[in-house]
Amino acid sequence: SLEMKVDSVLNLMTLEEKVGQLNQYNGFWEITGPTPKEGQAAKKYDDLKRGLVGSMLNVKGVKDVKALQKIAVEQTRLGIPLIFGFDVIHGYKTISPIPLAEAASWDLEAIKKSAAIAAEEAAAVGLNWTFAPMVDISRDARWGRVMEGAGEDPYLGSKIAVARVQGFQGEDLSATNTILACAKHFAGYGFAESGRDYNTVDVSESVLQNTIFPPFKAAVDAGVRTFMNSFNELNGIPATGSSYLQREVLKGDWKFDGLMVSDWGSINEMIAHGFAKDSKQAAEMAINAGSDMDMESSAYVTYLVALVKEGKVKERLIDDAARRVLKVKFELGLFDDPYKYCDENGELVTIGKPEFQEGVLDMARKSIVLLKNEKELLPLKKSGQKIAVIGALASDKTSPLGSWRIAADDESAVSVLEGLQKYKGNQLTYAKGANVTIGRTQFIWETKINTTDKSEFAAAIAIAKQAEVVIMVLGEHGLQSGEGRSRTEIGLPGVQQELLEAVYKVNPNIVLVLNNGRPLAIPWADENIPAIVEAWQLGTQSGNAIAEVLYGDYNPSGKLPMTFPRNVGQIPIYYNFKNTGRPTMNEPESVFWSHYIDEKNTPLYAFGHGLSYSKFEYSNLKLSSNSFTKNGKIEISITLKNTSKIAGKEVVQLYIRDLIGSVTRPVKELKGFEMIELMPNETKVVTFEINEKTIEYFTANRKWEAESGDFKVFIGGSSVTKLEDNFKYSN
Ligand code: IFM
Repeated sequence: SLEMKVDSVLNLMTLEEKVGQLNQYNGFWEITGPTPKEGQAAKKYDDLKRGLVGSMLNVKGVKDVKALQKIAVEQTRLGIPLIFGFDVIHGYKTISPIPLAEAASWDLEAIKKSAAIAAEEAAAVGLNWTFAPMVDISRDARWGRVMEGAGEDPYLGSKIAVARVQGFQGEDLSATNTILACAKHFAGYGFAESGRDYNTVDVSESVLQNTIFPPFKAAVDAGVRTFMNSFNELNGIPATGSSYLQREVLKGDWKFDGLMVSDWGSINEMIAHGFAKDSKQAAEMAINAGSDMDMESSAYVTYLVALVKEGKVKERLIDDAARRVLKVKFELGLFDDPYKYCDENGELVTIGKPEFQEGVLDMARKSIVLLKNEKELLPLKKSGQKIAVIGALASDKTSPLGSWRIAADDESAVSVLEGLQKYKGNQLTYAKGANVTIGRTQFIWETKINTTDKSEFAAAIAIAKQAEVVIMVLGEHGLQSGEGRSRTEIGLPGVQQELLEAVYKVNPNIVLVLNNGRPLAIPWADENIPAIVEAWQLGTQSGNAIAEVLYGDYNPSGKLPMTFPRNVGQIPIYYNFKNTGRPTMNEPESVFWSHYIDEKNTPLYAFGHGLSYSKFEYSNLKLSSNSFTKNGKIEISITLKNTSKIAGKEVVQLYIRDLIGSVTRPVKELKGFEMIELMPNETKVVTFEINEKTIEYFTANRKWEAESGDFKVFIGGSSVTKLEDNFKYSN
């Protein structure tokens, strides 16, 4: 059995070698260059040869992977192969939409396929392990890493977590087109105070259990083989040193038998947190708490052997951690053939394959959300229109790649302008109007937002005056969201808002195409601009997908996975909020109702919102019965009709409200959804089942259970629904 195989290796290992398996280093020297002779690189190289490294990250390409693997296999005493990890977040070289955009498709098959493409391409360059999916729920658009997750909802987030894990890992981990997935960051990272990356997290047990944990639990149930802990502290304990999170919940309650890796340097960061006094104590705390592998702190490799000898760490914990590392190496098939992911020819033919391009294009189309469409501006006519295209992002071939695309080449995306130029029937003019960024925009470099230059406004206004329709591509550069890119203002960066208003004065027929890695607050645009298309950062094929949607060759069907606020001051804003004792969503009856005196409570665009070129009509909500009991169920159905002349897809959403709970319940919670495709005038009945599982939550009894009582149920095309009914549950 696998366990026996793992033990057969473990039994041969010295304590030092076991600790070595728990050590992960970043790629530390030019692998094809001369071997390092001094400094940190020389020390790491030496550790590698002594069998004191279990995994590498950020080494890529068959040549480099093979060279390092050869050292591990041929020069260390036991020849245990390395595993190679990399942040393949939304594609390796062929880039799919940012994960938040993919989530907007609500299309689980497409998301799974996108992850499978990323896995195949990554595996072909020698990689075995992606640090994805990020399954952190977040309600804070200021936090730059919302681009990397599935948005604000635990139900949708769980479904997407499963799709991504299955996509990356496939059916068979030892196949050469699959890689290890990693559910991260455990836990609470998306709840950083004030949306500032890495900040303190302090949440109740109810939020933790009902909102933050579900996608992680779903990933475990889907068989994810690795986890990553997080930089943040959670309720006073750094996640890396939390035995509650790692031993009690993950490895205990959820029976996770895979591998937990620390985040980059997060073991040593417990010193700055004020939790460990030095690196040695940090190592002790982290291993005892259940962090199996040390990413780039060098704390384990330096101190664990001594800590065991001093009796501060039990050797059986080292054995357990090493076993988990060895197990995934066996599962990948690396003990059978350490070079199985190192086929130079395979690498050449796999990268950027046409079918990958087709796959990411399909995903990009499905990720687009039509936020507003008045005056029948969209779809554009295919001929005879004079179109002005404005915005620096319209011609940008790097920004659409988004954040976290470390292996992709700059300038490798199809720009919006290039996509539009493929449609030859119209006359196109282009002006930048305003820059979005100043400074460098490479992966690690800071991207400044505060451009003030308006010198190119005049050229933009001139072409807008001549045009019938103006397409303005505005928003964030791909590197203005992502890790370390929190914002306090979430409008259009720089002078783009001024540009929009200046162009509007001369031509109000504007289609605003948004590029962004987070929800934006754009109340002026919503009020004045007739058509708004949410196009996120859509990856390599971005411009083609956008052009197809603008021209109506693809009918948009995306729905927002995260609420768009009117104003940054409303954050955190999310659809599944609690009612309060003084509830109001409309005009308050007095000043003492829960509201703002300067802004509405409602969002600009609700969770689940998204239009289509088709028109859908919901009617005839029916319940099979108005009550059910333990082990029972009821069915709920509605009739959906496409009342337009255009075939289209609609995501039908099911929400419930538990009216009275032992812990107060949200006003609405997503509990089901289905993508329905309808031809013109076609009608379909859509049915959902409601059972105990649907209404279960983490109650005041501190367990997941269904409580008896009255419920409301809602169905619609967004979280703002019109059709509702009631049912009763008794246990
Ligand atoms: O995977 C990432 C993580 O999400 C943030 N810190 C660095 C890791 C490895 O690059």
